[in-house]
Amino acid sequence: MKPAFDLLHSITTWIRESAREIPEFPDDFDPSVRPADPRFGDFQANGVLPLAKKMKTNPRQLATALMAKIEEHPELGSGEFDLTIAGPGFINITLKPAFLSAWAKAFDQPEDLSAGLRHLYKEKTVVMDFSGPNTAKQMHVGHIRSTVIGESISRLLSFCGAKVIRDNHIGDWGTQFGILLLACKRFGFDFSVEPSVALPALEDLYRQGNQLVEEDPTAKDEARQELVLLQNGDEDRMGIWKKINEISQGAFNELYRRLDVTFDLNLGESFYRDQVHGVCEELEELKIAEVSDGALVVFHPEHPRFNEQPFIIRKSDGASNYATTDLATVAYRCEELDADEIIYVTDGRQQDHFEQLFLTVQKWFAGAGKPAPTLRHVWFGTILGEGGKAIKTRSGGSVKLRDLIDEGIERARLIVDGKNPNLPDEQKAAIAEAVGIGAIRYADLMQNRTHDYVFSWDKMLSFEGNTAPYLLYAVARIHAIFRKAGIQPGEGEESASDLETEEEIQLARQLTLFPTAIAQVAQDLRPHFLCTYLFELANAFSSFYNANRVMTENPQEQARRLMLCSRTLLYLQTGLQLLGIETLEQM
Ligand code: ARG
Repeated sequence: MKPAFDLLHSITTWIRESAREIPEFPDDFDPSVRPADPRFGDFQANGVLPLAKKMKTNPRQLATALMAKIEEHPELGSGEFDLTIAGPGFINITLKPAFLSAWAKAFDQPEDLSAGLRHLYKEKTVVMDFSGPNTAKQMHVGHIRSTVIGESISRLLSFCGAKVIRDNHIGDWGTQFGILLLACKRFGFDFSVEPSVALPALEDLYRQGNQLVEEDPTAKDEARQELVLLQNGDEDRMGIWKKINEISQGAFNELYRRLDVTFDLNLGESFYRDQVHGVCEELEELKIAEVSDGALVVFHPEHPRFNEQPFIIRKSDGASNYATTDLATVAYRCEELDADEIIYVTDGRQQDHFEQLFLTVQKWFAGAGKPAPTLRHVWFGTILGEGGKAIKTRSGGSVKLRDLIDEGIERARLIVDGKNPNLPDEQKAAIAEAVGIGAIRYADLMQNRTHDYVFSWDKMLSFEGNTAPYLLYAVARIHAIFRKAGIQPGEGEESASDLETEEEIQLARQLTLFPTAIAQVAQDLRPHFLCTYLFELANAFSSFYNANRVMTENPQEQARRLMLCSRTLLYLQTGLQLLGIETLEQM
């Protein structure tokens, strides 16, 4: 029989089952199992302590009673684990080398890894709302975090069994179009050029238009007129609007292709333009929204700030806004996409918007007698320049994502040329692409997303420390071991004996923590937990490889070490793939 893959989850279940046989333990007893300090074991169950405190009994006594049942449990008591009571009543669980060997042998296919985690998001439909650039503007460095974090979380949740629908909520219906339409009329625009050239030109056109409205009040009125005409469906304006969006989408797609980011839907703000009025009416009828100073707003009296600072869903001039669109979007995603959960990935400055949106949705759905979906705002901090302020170009403009990627690849190319001058040119280009893009991506994902971080080329491109090049190099090094041995990863491990050396055991223990790391990301939606895990796995591999020769005269020893190599490779590659990072066989 195969051992359990997600050990933290299984041990939790087993301890619960044991506790259920003891009358003093409540049915909902949480054993609170965590990965342990390696000096004491692999996992530790701390749940007895809070229970004893609540029951005002001796925790040690409760732990002893629980331990007696655990030892009788068919799985936990099977002899594969060392179980001890420590301190005031912790239960320490240590995996024995024979179990570690069996575990590492058992899960040798990418499908095994996903199958063992599908219980986390089984039968859930999750809409991932990420990237969301605004049309007629190039994606700037601020969009990189949403795109990279959103893509990674999408991959992770699919891996954990969710049906993930990736929806790019593009800002394609904003007030910028009044100015753009006016500028088109005044200055003309050539729509026939390539999107990657046309988009920067559109940005310039917008800048020109903006200057015009700022200097000339009649131009401002004219721009407002243009916007009204567009919103009323004027054919000419709609035609130009469509072309601007096509150009923008074309340029965005080019970046998504380079970053290996995909979407199932591109339902931008404009998609909801006919639904917003209905939303306002319904919320007013349900008495959730009220008119205040001519605007339609939602107050949240129970909230310390939103009791006075309302959620504006229709401005006093009658126009709907970002909030109205987002309300209509929630309804659509529930009704048409059957969403159980919606995850929004944006900048931390939108926290108030989403908090107000979520409160409003709860009241709206409760009022309408419908179950509300789970709504989560995955927000992130700012990317800072070396000076500690938000990153800018030398001329003070916003850094464009395209330029950033180009520079990353260029810098990586210099490193590859230095390290491996004799590789064929084509291969060097491919390595530079993977390392350059991987480095930018990884530097973002390895940060706790709610923190700001300083963008540093030197740090992210270093081959030492918690970086993409370090992990990619670990992958390439393992490939090289197999290349030299003349076999494929996965071959030559049949006669593997049980793990023996300290380094083998430490590496196998690190492998067993893969499901725990993924589960933690799925719970908190913070990819950096996976980065930390992969970094520690690569470190454990490095210690193993430095201390234990893989190709030896002893066939069983060699087989088990090859097994550890191929397993480490599988876990590193799977993890990096979930982060959206392309791996290489040779660097
Ligand atoms: N277009 C927005 C921006 O650039 C992001 C959209 C996020 N999604 C949403 N449903 N509001 O900030």
